[in-house]
Amino acid sequence: MKILPSILAADYWRLGEQVSDAERGGADRFHIDVMDGLFVPNLSLGIPIVEAMRRGTKLPLEIHLMIERPERYTDAFIKAGGDLLILHQEATPNLHRAIQQVRQAGKQVGVGINPATPLGVVEEVVENLDLLLLMTVNPGFGGQKFIHEVMPKLTRARALLQQRAPRCELEVDGGVDLTTGPIAAAAGADVLVAGTCVFAHPSGPGAGVQALREAVKRGLAAAI
Ligand code: DX5
Ligand code: ZN
Repeated sequence: MKILPSILAADYWRLGEQVSDAERGGADRFHIDVMDGLFVPNLSLGIPIVEAMRRGTKLPLEIHLMIERPERYTDAFIKAGGDLLILHQEATPNLHRAIQQVRQAGKQVGVGINPATPLGVVEEVVENLDLLLLMTVNPGFGGQKFIHEVMPKLTRARALLQQRAPRCELEVDGGVDLTTGPIAAAAGADVLVAGTCVFAHPSGPGAGVQALREAVKRGLAAAI
């Protein structure tokens, strides 16, 4: 199980300190949310933060592009230090080309879909992916409630990957905490993105990562 702190929930005044703490706590890579105010009703982080993170951590950086026509910016985020770029299927009519563009630049590529988007839209590209992301909130904001209705889609996604792309990771993002993380893991997720749950931990983000990992371990053990 991989745990990815979403720095959207970090205290930006102490970003470097918090990133190092999360790294010491066993984070597997960092998740950076990029929003354009069009694809989602919010603005967030951009290229300078990715560059700064690149200088401050050795862990891989995953860029979640919640922007219209993400193909316009893939090269810029790769140049800034992104290792894995997530494109939203809903944000481009040229998903295949956008995926190829990231691949040709030598980086890993994922595709994300919103809660209302059916799994079938990724069927023709799944073999080209390193990661499939199922959003468990409507993208745009941290601290929202986990949408449990996505769980049957997650189980179907696990079956699809097993058959067609066994090495592709299956990630969930949004509302993941000590209760919902184990539920998503049991339904087939092997990568959990967590913002609030990690950064709001009273003992800091490192302890937040550890608490989530323990909860998932206990949940999976209980399911066996
Ligand atoms: C939401 C973002 C998430 C967000 C998750 O649009 O994609 O990555 O930071 O935050 P929490 O874990 O607080 O729901
Ligand atoms: Zn995200």
